[in-house]
Amino acid sequence: MKAIVVTDQAAGTAGMTLVERPEPPAAINDVIVQIHASGFVPTEMEWPSTWTDRADRDRTPSIPGHELAGVVTALGYGTTGLSVGQRVFGLADWHRDGTLAEYVAIEARNLAPLPGDVEFTVGASLPISGLTAWQWLFEHGLTAWQGLFEHGRLQAGQSVLAHGAAGAVGTMVTQLAREFGAYVIGTGRAGDRQKALDFGAQEFVDLDNDALKDVGGVDLVFDVIGGDIQKRSAGLIRAGGTLVSIVGPTEARPADGLAIDFVVESDRGQLGEIVQRVRDGRLRTNIGNIATLDDAIAALNPTERRTGKTIIHVQP
Ligand SMILES: NC(=O)c1ccc[n+]([C@@H]2O[C@H](COP(=O)([O-])OP(=O)(O)OC[C@H]3O[C@@H](n4cnc5c(N)ncnc54)[C@H](OP(=O)(O)O)[C@@H]3O)[C@@H](O)[C@H]2O)c1
Repeated sequence: MKAIVVTDQAAGTAGMTLVERPEPPAAINDVIVQIHASGFVPTEMEWPSTWTDRADRDRTPSIPGHELAGVVTALGYGTTGLSVGQRVFGLADWHRDGTLAEYVAIEARNLAPLPGDVEFTVGASLPISGLTAWQWLFEHGLTAWQGLFEHGRLQAGQSVLAHGAAGAVGTMVTQLAREFGAYVIGTGRAGDRQKALDFGAQEFVDLDNDALKDVGGVDLVFDVIGGDIQKRSAGLIRAGGTLVSIVGPTEARPADGLAIDFVVESDRGQLGEIVQRVRDGRLRTNIGNIATLDDAIAALNPTERRTGKTIIHVQP
């Protein structure tokens, strides 16, 4: 099969090569998926799991990409719940070969059915950003915060500071937080203002030109940036509020609140909730460039700023 591999962490995405690789075998509880579309997170080359297996051994050359949509072509021993020919989408294991390839071996539990009216490119754009936003809101943000999550809705006036609000995760966070009643203040670069507002943010802070402290107090901070911006954001959190980071262990903590960091996990039920929202129009995707596998290396090494998530269309 055709696959993109990386061998050199220092080279980053520029070190990607398109090669022939054997098709992967299906282990216990795996399925083999013929990949139709694949998502890629630009920071993957920085993740240790791109380079090592679970025992911390070198696993290069490794195939990056963890989001996929495709069709099941084989079942491993003992696999239940999915069938050959079924359309699926989901999130592949961080430590195994990924989805920038024609086939992937993946545990069935990491996949959900992809409804027939949802395109593969859309399915491949959802898993990481959708699940991260979902888990941030419902497992780490709202439920961790006493008093906020009441009868499934935020209390009126409670506010969320969503950093990187025009990005892949930020657009999902903004839309879900709005759906559940939050007042959303998005942040990002100057050029992101209109996009963040279009995805539902009620205010926007240009982190290069506006003063973050002018937003006043907020109840929940969603951090995709870290460093000094995380520290300054922690200082804005009202008593009882929460800072949730997805960019490593939190370096700052609210004076009177919680600080949480987490890594997204696949969840079939949550993938189903997310794709249903796409079908009925409650969630919009944030897809930028779409390229074929043959053109993927150029697309994943853009010379201009990304305008949304890059999706690789593996099957023509
Ligand atoms: N822990 C987890 O489970 C998890 C899950 C998903 C993602 N992540 C991580 O979360 C981060 C965001 O992922 P993503 O896919 O949403 O990335 P993305 O699509 O690039 O979105 C991030 C947005 O934040 C903006 N931004 C970053 N630094 C900024 C700064 N200093 N000032 C203003 N704007 C800034 C970016 O603008 P520029 O492009 O101009 O920098 C971009 O618009 C990545 O580091 C990713 O690895 C973690």
